[in-house]
Amino acid sequence: MKHRPGLRTSLSLAGAVCATIAAVAIPWQPAGAATSKYEAENATISQGTVATNHTGFSGSGFVDYTNATGSFVQWTVNVASAGSATLAIRYANGTTTNRPMTIAVNGSTVATTAFNGTGDWNTWATANVTATLNAGSNTVRATATTANGGPNVDFLNVTDGGSSGTPGMAVAPYEYFGWGNPQNPTTVMSQTGIRWFTLAFMLSDGTCAPAWDGDRPLTGGDDQAKINAIRNAGGDVIVSFGGFSGDKLGEHCSSASALAGAYQRVIDAYRLKAIDIDIEASEFSSGTVRQRVIDALKIVKNNNAGIKTIITLGVAPDGPDDTGKNLINRGAASGLNNDVWTIMPFDFGGHSGSMGQVTINASEGLKNALKSAYGYSDSTAYTRMGISSMNGKTDESDETVSTADFQTILGYAQQHHLARLTFWSVNRDRQCTGDLDADSCSGVSQSAFAFTRIFAQYTG
Ligand code: GCU
Repeated sequence: MKHRPGLRTSLSLAGAVCATIAAVAIPWQPAGAATSKYEAENATISQGTVATNHTGFSGSGFVDYTNATGSFVQWTVNVASAGSATLAIRYANGTTTNRPMTIAVNGSTVATTAFNGTGDWNTWATANVTATLNAGSNTVRATATTANGGPNVDFLNVTDGGSSGTPGMAVAPYEYFGWGNPQNPTTVMSQTGIRWFTLAFMLSDGTCAPAWDGDRPLTGGDDQAKINAIRNAGGDVIVSFGGFSGDKLGEHCSSASALAGAYQRVIDAYRLKAIDIDIEASEFSSGTVRQRVIDALKIVKNNNAGIKTIITLGVAPDGPDDTGKNLINRGAASGLNNDVWTIMPFDFGGHSGSMGQVTINASEGLKNALKSAYGYSDSTAYTRMGISSMNGKTDESDETVSTADFQTILGYAQQHHLARLTFWSVNRDRQCTGDLDADSCSGVSQSAFAFTRIFAQYTG
């Protein structure tokens, strides 16, 4: 069984001839306003403590401001585009006295907001503030102004305006700049509405040092220039390590700490908010290497506050195979709080039903594996998982993922609020002009970016 993302060799599917009939335009709407939740207990806390002594909170606790003037919670929040946003703070105040707080965005006070009594400490209410946010990272600080301190604070919800229709990190299709006739990423952004990319692949240069596809530099080259251009256009990138082909850092670094160091060099080079470990082939099949990757990600999590880690793995039609389950179980047993487990539901070597339905079946299998390993509820499991499909013809002659399948997958992701909805690849999101080149066209009749535009509708 082989999985994309990652087969870097140009591969010609025997007998595949691309149809030249006119492509059907796919109507699409840009994604609307998006809301992201930021738990108080995961934020920066000054003079407060994380508590659990009342009911009804979300996440693993809430912040008790400890009756101190000047105590605060500061969140780092991300929005795709600059503009007006609603900051909704969920709080409880079991007294009858208002506990006003100042709300500061990026260091400037934007409001002094009342946090009136909610009846008791188990009853939560929401206080809203409207503020202007920058594209990308912002700080939001809520500071107690009286000797009573602040209320108990559960989380901050940030709803951006969504006026320009910009799906965020959840929709970050794979693109590779070193091969497969890459489209200009800022053109992809302006033509589809997506803002984030997952860039493939970071590999070993033959030692425990990272390089693009094993041989291009992190800084000073075309890859960095393209990342800068994406960011200047209001987007951002996730870097993907691994893939099917080439030398894997997980194997060329001999310890978890060395591997974490290699990951860290890339995180630092680009100030990354998220990394993807696309664990395939020999990196996946070795138990020693699987454990090394898990342990390295734990180190990365400890050393980079707020960083998101994604693990992407191949699956069988009914979900993770024994090796995949073992990887997930190792993650749980090692205490790795991985953000997103993404499956690649294709290249099965035999399946029945539509690729859309098989994708759902495999995703349900992933959900069950996460529940069993981590003890998650259904809803938590869904928000810890993602799907990375493959547009058009896959590497298997009996598999074609159609735009209709993408609609099916989008509907499933939307229903369950999956953490990630992506695919391999942007480079392939166009009709072939001659024979199928699996790295640079889809093998199906389509308009340019038809697949990207479907997943661009995902609102999380
Ligand atoms: C009580 C309550 C706390 C709360 C505190 C307060 O002790 O149990 O959760 O933070 O009052 O006055 O702030």
